[in-house]
Amino acid sequence: MPADEIVTHSSEETIAKGREIASKLRPPVLVLLKGDLGSGKTTLTKGIISGLGAAKEEDVTSPTFNLVHEFRIHNGAGSEMSSHPCKVYHVDLYRIENFHDLESLGLEDALSEKAIVIIEWPERFTFRTDWPTIEIRLDHAGGDSRRIATSGLIRVNELS
Ligand SMILES: Nc1ncnc2c1ncn2[C@@H]1O[C@H](COP(=O)(O)OP(=O)(O)O)[C@@H](O)[C@H]1O
Ligand SMILES: [Mg+2]
Repeated sequence: MPADEIVTHSSEETIAKGREIASKLRPPVLVLLKGDLGSGKTTLTKGIISGLGAAKEEDVTSPTFNLVHEFRIHNGAGSEMSSHPCKVYHVDLYRIENFHDLESLGLEDALSEKAIVIIEWPERFTFRTDWPTIEIRLDHAGGDSRRIATSGLIRVNELS
């Protein structure tokens, strides 16, 4: 198994991993989440966004219809990030058909301020950005097991 892979065995474990990843994120950063339907991209995002103190786990849901959900890290939220308020975007490009649709999402605005931008199905488009980028790949590994592999800034198995 490559050095930057772990396997989780429940959605709770994946959420916990998301919280660990959150503790390492500093804006601006682009987090690309790749993997099939049901591989756990939204579940991992629950952990990341709740870990950032931007929302409760249950308030992080799949952006299936609006395609972009916007959160804000508030001052005094109790997270490590609380002294640096910023926006957190959760984007799902699964239903994006063309470049016009993509433009209508207003992602350029998101990418023009120092934010944390989490994108499901990023392979739908090529992102040209000079932002630090973390790529996380999730795969079914039988039953409730999911293989989570990272590349970029964070090695998922070095999180503590
Ligand atoms: N180890 C695991 N990690 C993440 N999700 C899991 C795991 N085991 C089972 N699941 C379930 O798999 C589904 C993952 O769905 P979701 O996170 O929406 O995937 P995606 O966003 O990649 O389509 C959820 O129903 C979740 O409860
Ligand atoms: Mg999803």
